[in-house]
Amino acid sequence: MRRLQNVLVTGGCGFIGSNFIHYLLNQPDFEGQIINLDKLTYAGNPENLKDIEEQYGNQRYIFIKGDICDFELVKGIFQTYDIDTVVHFAAESHVDRSILGPTPFIQTNINGTFSLLEVARYAWLEGKKEGCLFYHISTDEVYGSLGKTGLFTEDTPYRPNSPYSASKAASDHLVRAYFKTYGLPVIISNCTNNYGPYQFPEKLIPLTILNALEGKPIPVYGKGENIRDWIYVEDHCEAIWCLLKRGKTGEQYNIGGTNEMRNIDVVRLICNLLDEMLGPLSFGPRENLITFVKDRPGHDFRYAMDITKIKTTIGWMPKTNLKEGLKKTITWYLTHRSWVEHIKSGEYQRWVKEFYGGFKDAV
Ligand code: NAD
Ligand code: DAU
Repeated sequence: MRRLQNVLVTGGCGFIGSNFIHYLLNQPDFEGQIINLDKLTYAGNPENLKDIEEQYGNQRYIFIKGDICDFELVKGIFQTYDIDTVVHFAAESHVDRSILGPTPFIQTNINGTFSLLEVARYAWLEGKKEGCLFYHISTDEVYGSLGKTGLFTEDTPYRPNSPYSASKAASDHLVRAYFKTYGLPVIISNCTNNYGPYQFPEKLIPLTILNALEGKPIPVYGKGENIRDWIYVEDHCEAIWCLLKRGKTGEQYNIGGTNEMRNIDVVRLICNLLDEMLGPLSFGPRENLITFVKDRPGHDFRYAMDITKIKTTIGWMPKTNLKEGLKKTITWYLTHRSWVEHIKSGEYQRWVKEFYGGFKDAV
């Protein structure tokens, strides 16, 4: 029987982590406490959890600012809070940034995961603690790139193509090795592209929403023909919660939204939805803002998941179609203007040539 009592969430101030903390504390069958360890990099935003802090602060929710690479800190957290579950989100997550500078990706994604695994191994295996689980959040990008057809299954060989996906693949391998070698109770899930509230606007969907709102150019890499499978973040959180409760130790699960679309079509859909919701801008439909720019180096063509395993063994399926999820997401960005303004006032930059090493130049 899993304990799920003292849950260490890493990276809880990021996009998916903060959605997950909201989700988990809303589940009637979750009675435990959450300890959120986050370094607060450019992507970590305590504002994402302001309401949680107010409602549960120092009772069922504890925030600790710190680095997952800090072994002594993590060890202390395991001892102080008697951690029985780790839900590991913390990572450098943006592919473009990994192309510009891979160092923090290697440090956090690989060494950070290693540090957490080592502490869990000592605390749980040497302490002969039962009912524990190390849940590692990963990505479909570890499988590489698909052609026009086919799906990634859990047995697809790893072929990561960017420094980001290579670092995630390395961390997945470490987690798997700790299960095989030491018997550490682990689960890995690999998910497709998430979107929804609290996403940092460097990723395609929030970047497009904000640029379209402000009448700024919307950068589309190459010809916009690359395909992603989009999942509404709440559906991902639900899948994680199902797997925490019912997933089999030592197993890997694919999670996907079954919402494949070409980037150019995603961008056009957002522009059209905004035109419908707010009326067009003074110069016409927002589609006019689309600007084709140089392609991302090593740009994976297509990701798509076979989710048969999680469907048949766990009974989870995504609920939100892309149009419905985008409407909810756009509404969230429209009604959280102070969150948006705050993010924009930080080191955040959307359209800076030097920052992207030149590949965001218009073509
Ligand atoms: P994010 O960039 O929004 O958030 C990452 C969080 O981790 C931030 O709060 C940041 O401060 C924290 N962090 C970074 N380095 C840290 C360190 N050394 N120690 C402690 N905290 C640190 O990321 P996200 O989009 O929410 O992704 C979360 C996880 O989900 C990542 O592991 C990512 O690989 C995975 N994932 C993301 C997607 C997606 O579409 N966003 C899809 C599949 C898997
Ligand atoms: O597939 C899961 C992955 O999805 C996660 O593991 C990553 O953490 C997450 O960042 C995301 O990676 P992508 O590279 O797919 O997401 P991004 O939003 O950066 O880009 C989505 C697609 O849109 C991709 O084909 C590149 C393209 N793109 C992106 C940006 C930021 C553009 O055309 N223009 C842009 O400005």
